[in-house]
Amino acid sequence: MSVAADLRDIAVSLAREAGDMALHGRKNGTLTLHTKSSPVDMVTQYDKASEDMITAGLAKLRPHDAIVGEEGASTAGTSGITWHIDPIDGTTNFMYDLPTWAVSIGAVDEHGPLAGAVYAPALGEMFSAARGNGAHVNHTPLAVRRCEDVSQALIATGFSYNVSGRGPHAQRVARMLMTVRDVRRMGAAAIDLCFVAAGRIDAYFEEGLNSWDLVAGQLIATEAGAFVTNFHGDAVVPEQVLACSPELHPHMVRLIEESTQPQT
Ligand code: IPD
Ligand code: CA
Repeated sequence: MSVAADLRDIAVSLAREAGDMALHGRKNGTLTLHTKSSPVDMVTQYDKASEDMITAGLAKLRPHDAIVGEEGASTAGTSGITWHIDPIDGTTNFMYDLPTWAVSIGAVDEHGPLAGAVYAPALGEMFSAARGNGAHVNHTPLAVRRCEDVSQALIATGFSYNVSGRGPHAQRVARMLMTVRDVRRMGAAAIDLCFVAAGRIDAYFEEGLNSWDLVAGQLIATEAGAFVTNFHGDAVVPEQVLACSPELHPHMVRLIEESTQPQT
């Protein structure tokens, strides 16, 4: 088996272990809530427990790899592989017992995302990919939906935890609503990317993500045939993410640009 497939299998098994623990805890225990970057940015005891479980697994299985995790994990490595972990992506959904939250684990090498898993326990879905080996949900191969027309496109996005900074993006989305089929706000960036991969939405775009929101879902979407770029069609960065089918991509770039222009 290739290194990429090996790392994907590690990501799958650690995501499943941590996700099942969090789901079980959420259903059977009490939730301890704290705020992080803003009064609406929440963290629970399961975010930390999930990250601890994943980092302990990686320390055992991949002791020479680097780790970056949302809840503070930070380990230097020597192998050239870095793991980006979101122990619970969609914590607000998790808090409200909405099913769209996931454990996201992605590995990057010098060429970019190499392997990843996004596990949504409440949906019973394990999305995974290894570079050059395609993407799957459970054992079914994934492929993007071939939509070419923005007026027929179902689009997902997300909003910052910084409530006072939401205005410009809200205005952009409001303008887009006049052009596209409809808009969804799922609440977990990794799931948005996997839903592009699965053809459940046509496009996803968001600003201000972090590497742990992006890496695994980026690979899953790319391996399912999506283009994942910044808003201008250049190399994707967590600060600016657009994912959609190759056919829709130039139209989405134009739509984002037009919707971002100040209104005359
Ligand atoms: C958040 C979710 C949300 C997105 C935010 C992310 P978290 O991650 O992915 O959909 O809009 O930008 O920070 O905090 O739930 O792990
Ligand atoms: Ca998180």
